[in-house]
Amino acid sequence: MADITKEISPLPDRTPEPVFSKDELVFTDEEKARLARYKAQYPTPEGAVMRGLWLAQEKFGFLPPEVIRLVADELGIAYAQAYGVATFYTQYYKKKMGRYVLDVCTCFSCQLCGGYDMLHYLEEKLGIHKGETTEDGLFTIQEVECLGACGSAPMLQVTNGPYVHNLTTEKLDALIDSLREGRMPPFVSVTLPQDEQELDGNRRSDAEATEAYVTPPVSETVK
Ligand code: FES
Repeated sequence: MADITKEISPLPDRTPEPVFSKDELVFTDEEKARLARYKAQYPTPEGAVMRGLWLAQEKFGFLPPEVIRLVADELGIAYAQAYGVATFYTQYYKKKMGRYVLDVCTCFSCQLCGGYDMLHYLEEKLGIHKGETTEDGLFTIQEVECLGACGSAPMLQVTNGPYVHNLTTEKLDALIDSLREGRMPPFVSVTLPQDEQELDGNRRSDAEATEAYVTPPVSETVK
């Protein structure tokens, strides 16, 4: 019988060393006014939690526990409510991230179209595993769930901003080069491709897929 007292995955430290000092942990009057406006737009203060966390992430760069608590206190909601939301979404950063966060989707459509190949290629190219940041602080790789662009899989998102669709290793090379020069990819709006021409040669046939998608769905490329 399974030992139910055994810890399956490590629980987060309940009292980690704060990253920000008490003096830093304050909202300006203008930010407080924005939070009050958000609160007023919902039937209960909990409704404003996502916008509140977003505001805090823009201000502090990421959301360690003391920042999540600051948001909860300002909105007048339970810390657990804010913590639950912040830790559910990969878009909220719980630790300091690189300047560019590469969110590689490996959910169903992207996985079937080579999402893991793209993830592992990036890991190899940047010399880090998913969840890690390059030593120069430029890039963090995250593996994420569906970002709603399944029709142009495989895809990734850069720092909660532009999407890069129909990924190939060549596109990843070009993306990393341009980010190193400080150039974000342009925002591109795509609809579901209507014909082969629109796919721009990115669709692989089933026969090719058998050969092409050989990477196992685990991050073991970088040793
Ligand atoms: S599965 Fe990747 S965007 Fe939907």
